[in-house]
Amino acid sequence: EAAKKNGYPHYMLKEIHEQPDALHNTITPRLRDGLPDFSDDGIPDQVFADCDQIAIVACGTAMYAGMVGKALMEPLLKIPVSVNIASEYRYESPLVDEKTLVIVISQSGETIDTLAALRLSKERGAKVLSVVNVKGSTIARESDYVFYTHAGPEIAVASTKAYMVQLSSLYLIGCRMAMVRGKFTEQEAAAFVDQLLSSIPAVEKILEHKSRIKTAAGVLSKAKDAFFVGRGLDYAFSLEGSLKLKEISYIHAEAYAAGELKHGTIALIEENTPVIAVATQDHIYGKTISNIREVRARGAFVILITKKGAEIPEGICDIHFEVPVSDDRFAVFPVAVILQLLAYYTSDLKGLNVDKPRNLAKSVTVE
Ligand code: G6P
Repeated sequence: EAAKKNGYPHYMLKEIHEQPDALHNTITPRLRDGLPDFSDDGIPDQVFADCDQIAIVACGTAMYAGMVGKALMEPLLKIPVSVNIASEYRYESPLVDEKTLVIVISQSGETIDTLAALRLSKERGAKVLSVVNVKGSTIARESDYVFYTHAGPEIAVASTKAYMVQLSSLYLIGCRMAMVRGKFTEQEAAAFVDQLLSSIPAVEKILEHKSRIKTAAGVLSKAKDAFFVGRGLDYAFSLEGSLKLKEISYIHAEAYAAGELKHGTIALIEENTPVIAVATQDHIYGKTISNIREVRARGAFVILITKKGAEIPEGICDIHFEVPVSDDRFAVFPVAVILQLLAYYTSDLKGLNVDKPRNLAKSVTVE
């Protein structure tokens, strides 16, 4: 058992550290001359040309990866992209037809609600492309096309490296689709791929400097509630950060679109309530900062994540983390690692079973 953990105290920490390799293994086999190319995956460009909308369907962390996928793809492709909770979608008569590309995301490839949603999509004539980690799993077998993530086996119940490679897969799919649909020139696609590849050293950088994250976890471990706030892509990352924290530390955590705080949640902010604020998107940076001021004024303990070099107003936060990215769209990769480590250290400091949290299963094959 200890040998399998490769010297790490928990599978989760081991898997967090495997992320640079997982990213590399998922991205590089899909590159030809610096551009995404899925011919070895057997995914024809026709699939990307023929649809007029995308429906992403998944559960849990995979669904949150889908939220990031939507935030990336919709402005890039200029077609509607919906993100659907599989257990809702399958019973709610979704508007899916032969002009819909359904992207199913699943680490295990066995989640029962996701599988049912896949079957329903096919019945409605949609083409199904699945992003799956486990080779030969049921979802992989039943899909029209499979884009395998190469995370390797994920043992910890809380998903980390599988999420990371789901993201990189959605970024690659978005990029190829933008090329096929005339939204990217080859040059633009190559620049996008360069940025995607530079997320690997950005992730490594966070792993090298993880001790400060442990300090922040010291504060979280004493909290009853925690709130994650962000706008746009930052909101999409925050949802997964909040899920990670609640799954393994049992702290009540919620993620909010920062502008929505004042419509209710701010009532819950008290002296020292931790607020993890993600503010990596330039075009809405000032807006998020003003929301942080609002929680700050009510005594929140603010952990702020920005891009490297961002201008931080005096006294806006208690702890500040920076991520080394130049293109905002790629901030998710290093930010995800910070949020995973925050959850990990918080759980460990509380003396909880990090790898096997109560009441949760790695793969949910019952309804
Ligand atoms: C379970 C796991 C989660 C996972 C979800 C979907 O709840 O604990 O980590 O995100 O199922 O699983 P899948 O295998 O379909 O990605």
